[in-house]
Amino acid sequence: MPFAHITGWGMHVPEPVLTNDDISKLVDTSDEWIRERTGIRERHIARENEFPSTLGVEAAIKALQIANLAPTELDLIICTSSSPEYIFPATACLIQDQIGATKAGAFDLQAACSGFVFSINMAAQAIRSGSIKSALIVGTEVLSRFVNWKDRNTCILFGDGAGAFVLQASDVPGGVMSAVMHSDGSGANSLIIPGGGARFPASELSIHENKHFIHMDGKEVFRFATRVMGKATLEALEQAKLTIDDIQWIIPHQANIRIVETAAKYLKVPLDKFIVNVDRYGNTSTASIPIATVEAIQKGQLKAGDKAVFVGFGGGLTWGAMVVEWTGPIPITKQVHPEQYRLFARLRSIVRRALRFIEGLFSRWDS
Ligand code: COA
Repeated sequence: MPFAHITGWGMHVPEPVLTNDDISKLVDTSDEWIRERTGIRERHIARENEFPSTLGVEAAIKALQIANLAPTELDLIICTSSSPEYIFPATACLIQDQIGATKAGAFDLQAACSGFVFSINMAAQAIRSGSIKSALIVGTEVLSRFVNWKDRNTCILFGDGAGAFVLQASDVPGGVMSAVMHSDGSGANSLIIPGGGARFPASELSIHENKHFIHMDGKEVFRFATRVMGKATLEALEQAKLTIDDIQWIIPHQANIRIVETAAKYLKVPLDKFIVNVDRYGNTSTASIPIATVEAIQKGQLKAGDKAVFVGFGGGLTWGAMVVEWTGPIPITKQVHPEQYRLFARLRSIVRRALRFIEGLFSRWDS
């Protein structure tokens, strides 16, 4: 049975930064309050011409460069997002088109902030079963478009950004060692965008009632998150037949420093075993774990051979954790340049649209 290794990683955040002081000009809050209650200092906000797919493509290309894998080699793309480009089609398909992943099946996985952990698990299982050899996972968010900038309970928390991993099959032991996934839909209303779906489709009333924005019961989500983070970590460790002492790093979903501190106490480990960057990005939902991972690698913290836990929680409610043995890029025999496929992908997309148009004309004449 092949092992599923993480062989590539990338992140991309939009350039504009919104500080706590900037937010204090929009709502009644202060830098001090936000830092004390959440640990967040600033977050990145997408420009008007940036979307989940465009941020996701940048992160994906970087991940493919590290993996030294051509987009045309990918078998599967899973995009996970709490702020997808459309209800349908899947953001994964837009990314597939833009990077030129000609043979990949692509779909979105919706599990809110747990989406990245759930997606890695799904891709790893497909690799372990032998049905695919490679997969691209993209967590990408433009949550700023779903935030009510008049609601101080939520607008202080979220940020935009994207992260991506490449997973590949190998006979060498390692990679994804275990994973647990959980859900509790009885908590659906605790963290929800009620409008825009089939229950409350867009209407004057739905807009008037702010249903298209994030609604959150902060205290309830806080209690839930602190309850599940440590427990899920221990569950994933047990499944991998490891203890917390065998682990070099815990890379949690970045929502609030106080949630991480509570988990550290529960697990009886020092806070510096956790990778934390919520101060600079806020909560980027599905993108937060890969962004934290990429930064940990860049800082020389996470190294090949290390064992790490990824642990996520969020709307649904959903939560999950996994243990991975970090692989690092696989040795290169021939250098590929995934970024060069973008031009080819754009041309291919234009040609395919043109052919579809011409085909439509002919079928009109035929009938
Ligand atoms: N600035 C200043 N005051 C604020 C504020 C803000 N941005 N937001 C809330 N307050 C006020 C409240 O109105 C309340 O005032 P009151 O006592 O006069 O009614 C007071 O601060 C305390 O509010 P409370 O909601 O108890 O604060 P908290 O300590 O629970 O912190 C959150 C609020 C949102 C930071 C915290 O609950 C949280 O992080 N929850 C989890 C959210 C999360 O992670 N969501 C994503 C999960 S994926």
